Parts: sequence; C-alpha cells; structure tokens
Amino acid sequence: MSWDPQQLGQQVERTFVITGANSGIGLETARDLVGRGAHVVLAVRDTSRGEAAAARLAGPGSTDVVELDLADLDQVASCSKQLLDTYENLAALICNAGIMGGPLLLSSQGFERQMATNHLGHAALIAALWPLLDGSASRVVLVSSNEGRRGQLSPHTTREQLLNPDPYDGKQVYRNTKQANLLFAQELNRRCAEADSPVTSVAVHPGAAGTNLLARQLERGGHDVLARVSKVVSTVLLRSPALGAFATLRSIDPQTPSGAFVGPTKFGQLRGPPELLDVYPSARDPDTAARLWEITEWVLERPLPI
Ligand SMILES: NC(=O)c1ccc[n+]([C@@H]2O[C@H](COP(=O)([O-])OP(=O)(O)OC[C@H]3O[C@@H](n4cnc5c(N)ncnc54)[C@H](OP(=O)(O)O)[C@@H]3O)[C@@H](O)[C@H]2O)c1
Repeated sequence: MSWDPQQLGQQVERTFVITGANSGIGLETARDLVGRGAHVVLAVRDTSRGEAAAARLAGPGSTDVVELDLADLDQVASCSKQLLDTYENLAALICNAGIMGGPLLLSSQGFERQMATNHLGHAALIAALWPLLDGSASRVVLVSSNEGRRGQLSPHTTREQLLNPDPYDGKQVYRNTKQANLLFAQELNRRCAEADSPVTSVAVHPGAAGTNLLARQLERGGHDVLARVSKVVSTVLLRSPALGAFATLRSIDPQTPSGAFVGPTKFGQLRGPPELLDVYPSARDPDTAARLWEITEWVLERPLPI
C-alpha cells in the first residue's frame, strides 16, 4: 500500500530546520509541518523573502527565519552558531536548498557554486550542528534527485574535478552534486551505525515538480523572459511543489529507516507516491563515498565529526 501523508501524524513540540524553505519543495514541506503543529526554522538566503513566506504559513505550528547562504562557508558558520545558541532539540535537519545548472559561478570561497551550495554548504551545516543533531537523535535529510544516477564522481575524482571542474558542464555538475547528496547520506548512515550515533540519515528524490529551480537557472544565465515562460510552463506540465514535498515528508516518518532513499517510482521516477527506492549504482560505492568525504573534510579544514 502506498504511503499516505496522514501516516506522519502530528508534529507538535518538534523543531525542524529546512534549508531553502522560502520557495518550492522546501516551502511546501514547511507548510505541511506547520500545519501539523511543528516549529519550523526557515533557513534562507534572503530573510525578507523568508519572512514573507513564513507569513503565508497558517496552522497551529510556529516559524522562525534565519539567514543561511550555503555558498559562503563563513555565513554557514554564523547561521549554525545562531541555531546552536537558540535550539536544544532538533527533530530533523532537512537539507533541501539547491541550484541547478547555469553559467559557471563561484562561491565565496572560490568553489564551483552548484557543488558549494548543494553539497559543501550542507556538509558544513551538518558538521557545525553535530552536537545538536547527535544530542537530540535527529534525522538528517538530503534532497537529491534522480539526476544523481548520472553523476560521474568516482573513487578517483580529484579535488579540481569536484570543486573547480574544467571544462565546465553545468548540467553534469548538477548531476554530480545530486550524486554527492545521495553518497553523503549513505556514508553518514554507515558512519552513524558504526559509531552508535543516534543520528539517522535519509536521502530523497522529489520527482519532477514545478518550482523555481529551472527559472533561477535561466535568470543566472541572463534569460529573464525565458525564466518567466518556464515558470508558467513548469506549473502547467509538472506536478505541484506540494506533491514534490511528499517524498521529504515520508523521509521524516520514523517508519522510514536510516539509509533509505525515498522517491516516486512512476513515469521514470517523476511521479507517484513516495516509495523506498533502490539506491542508484552511482551512489552505492563506499569508495566513492569515502573519496567525497575526504575532499569535503579538506574543504572544511577539519574532520567531519562522525
Ligand atoms: N523541482 C524538481 O523537480 C526537483 C527534482 C529533483 C530534485 N530537486 C531538488 O529539490 C530541492 C528544492 O528545489 P526546488 O525544486 O524546490 O527549487 P526552488 O524553488 O528553486 O528552491 C530552491 C531553494 O534553494 C534556495 N537556495 C539557492 N541557493 C541557496 C544558497 N546559496 N543558500 C541557501 N539557500 C539557497 C533558494 O533560495 P532563493 O529563493 O533565494 O533562490 C530556494 O529557496 C533542490 O535540492 C533540488 O535539487 C527538485
């Protein structure tokens, strides 16, 4: 029988941090959780847009908005400190924010911006929040994509290939970032089990949802008119961001085991209710995961805490 969102139940007195919660799948995840009575922290690049989004969330739960720029490791550190100073318990950290494709742009530390945003910034956030995550047996959710199955990371990936690929292929880099999300979730699960940590880790593929993801790519490339058209077309052709959030909601159901990969199975995994998927071969190799972990630690200039 398919999973039904009702199975998640009420979430009163539980706190969730969602990155990129001002739009798309992150916003709809926040909306659902606030409706279940949760306290949701919207961790967003632009706090005025975050406040506007939070104001539109009705329900018995509550919200907080914090500034988070995943493409700036110093700012990730400031945001983490704010969260550690404010919260003692976290039900889940939902690493949802992401960018896709577009021209070559760099992060504040000079790394390719998709890898910096989608993977490195989230790894830094997880590392900095570790005392809170470990202390409250939190679930870490990494929002990946079925594009991750075509990622090309391997045990032989060099730092340059991961962080500053040349020649640059924006589409391939996006696939690599989503492979990295899935690899990282698997490795985190393995390491938590080995270390007897209560932290659990689940990866998600949301299916194809009509969000700002493509429009933002077109805007970064200077195609503002196409971006507006793409918003209309994707709203008509793709499923709603609320349906896209179903996989994330299933990922935080305690019935979903650590190490799972959750997503739809119909129409090439683009639609349908969230099921437990087989992890793509591209993300199953522990040596590739270990290589990603090693380069990530080099970027963060410290060992990851688990
Ligand atoms: N939509 C789909 O069909 C689909 C399919 C597979 C996977 N996904 C994944 O789903 C996740 C959510 O994407 P979405 O489709 O909901 O797209 P979206 O509407 O564009 O949402 C992406 C969110 O990420 C935020 N973000 C971008 N750069 C950031 C940064 N440097 N620091 C912090 N936040 C940042 C965006 O903030 P701004 O509003 O400020 O830009 C936005 O809130 C992504 O990880 C994406 O890869 C989506």
